[in-house]
Amino acid sequence: MTILDALKADHDDVKSLLGQILEADETTVRIRLFSEFKIKMTAHSHAEEKVLYRRMERTEAGRPEALEGAVEHKVVERLMSDLSRKRGKDSEAWTTGIRVLRKLVERHVEAEEEKFFAIARKAFDERTLDRMADEFAREKKRRGVGPTASRIAAV
Ligand SMILES: [Fe+2]
Ligand SMILES: [Fe+2]
Repeated sequence: MTILDALKADHDDVKSLLGQILEADETTVRIRLFSEFKIKMTAHSHAEEKVLYRRMERTEAGRPEALEGAVEHKVVERLMSDLSRKRGKDSEAWTTGIRVLRKLVERHVEAEEEKFFAIARKAFDERTLDRMADEFAREKKRRGVGPTASRIAAV
């Protein structure tokens, strides 16, 4: 398994969590799902920056993309922490915030899967991408998050 498979599995997972938050009627369920989302999203972004972005920054094609991606991580993080502090997680304002967060995350991971993955496949060989998967798992674990089961593999 390469790091790209691990990233894709995480992307599907965080997108699904955001969908579940919006569908949940009970506030306690929303709070639980949001806190799960926050932990997983944060661990994913940090590990991704450390393992993938840092290497991409050293390539000509990857540098601008990686720098942009890191700024997007900050935007997501900021909105996440605003929503985390906000009371009334059943309010219209909070729900609107989650909807915007979902759009941001969807756009961000789409760009990664289209552009970043193509750059990574060109810049790094299969063995390196495999090794990066191990590093990525270790970085996530340091933040208390285990690997995400791939949906494709689970079928
Ligand atoms: Fe990312
Ligand atoms: Fe990502």
